[in-house]
Amino acid sequence: MTSPEDVLRKNCKMVHGCPMIYAFTFNWEKVEQFHSRPDDIVIVTYPKSGTTWVSEIVDMIINDGDVEKCKRDVITVKVPMLEMTVPGLRTSGIEQLEKNPSPRLVKTHLPIDLLPKTFWKNNCKMIYVARNPKDVAVSYYHFDLMNNLHPLPGTWENYLENFIAGNVAYGSWFNHVKNWWKKKEEHPILFLYYEDMKENPKKEIKKIATFLEKNLNDENLDKIVHHTSFGMMKDNPLVNYTHIPSTVMDHSKSPFMRKGITGDWKNYFTVAQNEKFDAIYRKEMSGSTLQFRTDF
Ligand code: A3P
Repeated sequence: MTSPEDVLRKNCKMVHGCPMIYAFTFNWEKVEQFHSRPDDIVIVTYPKSGTTWVSEIVDMIINDGDVEKCKRDVITVKVPMLEMTVPGLRTSGIEQLEKNPSPRLVKTHLPIDLLPKTFWKNNCKMIYVARNPKDVAVSYYHFDLMNNLHPLPGTWENYLENFIAGNVAYGSWFNHVKNWWKKKEEHPILFLYYEDMKENPKKEIKKIATFLEKNLNDENLDKIVHHTSFGMMKDNPLVNYTHIPSTVMDHSKSPFMRKGITGDWKNYFTVAQNEKFDAIYRKEMSGSTLQFRTDF
């Protein structure tokens, strides 16, 4: 019998060629056999790209900007994570999804090849949020410090090497974003950028509402912008992950709602690390039309 202690700070385990959080690899068949519903809305990201932010935005949009309705439960219940399971500790993402009313919001970080086929068969709408990899690496490093389900990140220098090589949970950032970007040619995927959401949240929220065929008036749009601002979400215990037991997430190491800014990478990357990263980035992304902003 596996208990929560048995799955903490373990190395990732490979699932179909992708490094996966050890705890999540139990009962992987359940993920593969998951039954989607045609009106499921799937929120996909590489970790630390703004998943929680867009999750709360989407919940607010489908509830017409009604703040009270959006306070009905914590984010992990409203927007369960498909692959999340911690043996003996919490309701798994799938158990929660099975309880939720339609239209369900489904969160996942899975790379395209690991997403259960059911979502393609049902032609489910998907929202992909991408964030520039330098800020992702910094955010992920801090997340790995506080999330005991992940392996310890070690030094920043080592961590960055691992991130570049794809030796972190969910594998290579480069492959993740490139493959999801390509997929949108043949499937209804709304592709958003964290940087655009920071720059003009109202514009991006409108895009999401249009994609979900929701008509929101200006007042409700403004309410959503306000309720989902970093300051509001940081202080909202329903979305800031302080409801997770501290054995799993230790906010004293680094809060989940850390800085919520663009360009924090400049405080961590040395000149040499930045040059090396840029060279690898150019090589990895050379065949893709996908572009990111890193200078702010
Ligand atoms: P930082 O660590 O750079 O602060 P995810 O939800 O995918 O795990 O992403 C978490 C990142 O998004 C964290 O980045 C977090 O602070 C940031 N974030 C969460 N809510 C946000 C919001 N409302 N506005 C801006 N950034 C937000």
